[in-house]
Amino acid sequence: MQTFPNFTLHLADCIDIIPQLPDNSLDAIFADPPYFLSNGGISVQSGKQVCVDKGDWDKGGTPEHIYNFNRKWLELCRPKLKDNGTIWISGTYHNIFVVQRCLQECGYKILNIITWQKTDPPPNLSCRYFNFSTELIIWARKSPKIPHKFNYDVMKELNGGKQMTDVWRIPSVGKWEKTCGKHPTQKPLRLLYRIILASTNKGDTILDPFAGSCTTGIAANLLERNFIGIDQEKQFIELGQRRRQEIEDKKIAVKLLKKMSEVPNETMVLVNHARKELREMMIEKGLCYLRAGDSKGSLQVTPGFERMHYVLLHTNGEDAQLFRIKKGKEGSFQIWSKETLISRGFNPEHALYYIVIPFENSPIEYSKQLQIKQHLNTFRAKIRPLSDFTGI
Ligand SMILES: C[S@@+](CC[C@H](N)C(=O)[O-])C[C@H]1O[C@@H](n2cnc3c(N)ncnc32)[C@H](O)[C@@H]1O
Repeated sequence: MQTFPNFTLHLADCIDIIPQLPDNSLDAIFADPPYFLSNGGISVQSGKQVCVDKGDWDKGGTPEHIYNFNRKWLELCRPKLKDNGTIWISGTYHNIFVVQRCLQECGYKILNIITWQKTDPPPNLSCRYFNFSTELIIWARKSPKIPHKFNYDVMKELNGGKQMTDVWRIPSVGKWEKTCGKHPTQKPLRLLYRIILASTNKGDTILDPFAGSCTTGIAANLLERNFIGIDQEKQFIELGQRRRQEIEDKKIAVKLLKKMSEVPNETMVLVNHARKELREMMIEKGLCYLRAGDSKGSLQVTPGFERMHYVLLHTNGEDAQLFRIKKGKEGSFQIWSKETLISRGFNPEHALYYIVIPFENSPIEYSKQLQIKQHLNTFRAKIRPLSDFTGI
């Protein structure tokens, strides 16, 4: 089996390997430890009722065992992080509160608790609970006093120019991520994409002490970070190696990178400022236009553009109105020259070409007022998820 310098794997118990890593060497750790939930409950997989049994490693222990286990590995990890390094641990109620307690006892500082909301959860068969659709991810830093690495602007850009919140709507792991085999608790690449971009830079090193199928390693290498993974099961280490081998194929690497950078199926809204007279004219003609780019009055084409189904027109943050974008035969968006816009009665001044978006010009009622003015640049167009306008 081929080895890769940026992808180091250990087939072992992480309790034995972590102490061998050099102190202050890791920029980030992502850990998806056993949740201890394989206790004979039922769940749904591919539409079929199945017993929750992920493997012996996930069988429930006593509360004391769960505490001692988490305390131990968290204690071992802390000195291995660089002073500005951070750790992410995913879990559910079965383990996450114990993890939170251990983190604090070990001297880490908790930064956020991310709620990963699965956009496609399987149904709850018993119908005696709300459907389980979330997992929690604690983000903590090594030291209470030393500032941590956080790529705030990258996250804001991913979120269409708006500060990213601690609720992440991401689908469960997809078939496209399982081409080399299956792991029973595989995490989606899209989740690791966000985590890695938020807390590391190119060339950084990330450890996953419970690597499983090495989702962390695949996302890390695709984003040009180094990876160290540990798992005690041979079958999973081999699966991780196959996944790493797969992305040696440049075409597959490009495809995976593209897919993991998208948040699919989220309906988006183009939020656009226009001065009063221009806006009235746009509504009358059912046409909205903007420059592409990064300046006043322009729209930066970011992921989500292709899923825009609504346009929200406002004037300097006031009098917002929502319209449905027309689904024309030739697609919803067009590029027009300045002359074409002039021939339609507009008077564009700043560019030769414009993105033109035809919309149905009767406004749609919606109940939640967007705080457009809270954002620094009201004049720049933004792409926002429709869920920001719940109630339509
Ligand atoms: C929840 S899964 C991780 C799944 C992984 N995030 C992925 O995307 O495939 C936990 C993994 O930890 C491994 N494991 C459990 N206890 C371990 C230990 N003490 N040392 C190393 N690996 C362990 C299991 O074999 C399992 O593959």
